[in-house]
Amino acid sequence: MLYILDTADTEKIRRYTYYFPIAGVTTNPTIISKEKRDFLPLIKEIKGIVGDSRMFHIQTTSQDADKIIEEAKALREIIGEKLYIKVPISQEGLRATWMLKERGFNVTETAIFTQQQAMLAATAGADFVAPYVNRLDNIVSDGVNVVSEIVQMFKLNDIKTKVLAASFKTVEQVHKIAMVGCQSVTVNPDVLDQLIYHPMTMLAIDDFEADWKTVYGNKSILDLIKE
Ligand code: G3P
Repeated sequence: MLYILDTADTEKIRRYTYYFPIAGVTTNPTIISKEKRDFLPLIKEIKGIVGDSRMFHIQTTSQDADKIIEEAKALREIIGEKLYIKVPISQEGLRATWMLKERGFNVTETAIFTQQQAMLAATAGADFVAPYVNRLDNIVSDGVNVVSEIVQMFKLNDIKTKVLAASFKTVEQVHKIAMVGCQSVTVNPDVLDQLIYHPMTMLAIDDFEADWKTVYGNKSILDLIKE
């Protein structure tokens, strides 16, 4: 599964890409605004951290297809080949999607709440569709089920578009998404922390260390081999 970081906090991007197997970064206008920084230096700094091997998804802010294309062109000049243009699903967004694909852009269709929104985005050529799991759960829908049906629908129709499940609050949501065969998730650093944490793991690590010290003191394997 691809794990992508859903944040524009450069300190966190630096830290989590150092430790975790992160495939890229996703942002949207809300996430960018939280940083309260000038846009251009911010995206350049993020690009500098994620490098040339990881994806960087940036959402356009225009509602009009032609303007979305202009924004995408300007962004590609700065970010390069691993840029994914995020476009919220709408009529203009769909038109922008196929226009962007014709011009060789990577596209992520976002703010997906229904299976047919995902199908239309895929048919327009989107590389990823991003359904919002927790926001679906919050409106008493079933985020995991929506993602599951999108995954199945794409498989049945031999559609290559990947599902990038987004909007998570819990480990359970991420786990259930993995169990329905979703290829990728974008999670914020807090959720990533929850994914790796378990108190029994901490206990096991403490026990390993304590048991080792009873016999070998503070010596490491390397110390013992070199002795
Ligand atoms: O990537 C989409 C995501 O940022 C939405 O998440 O937590 O605002 O529902 P949230």
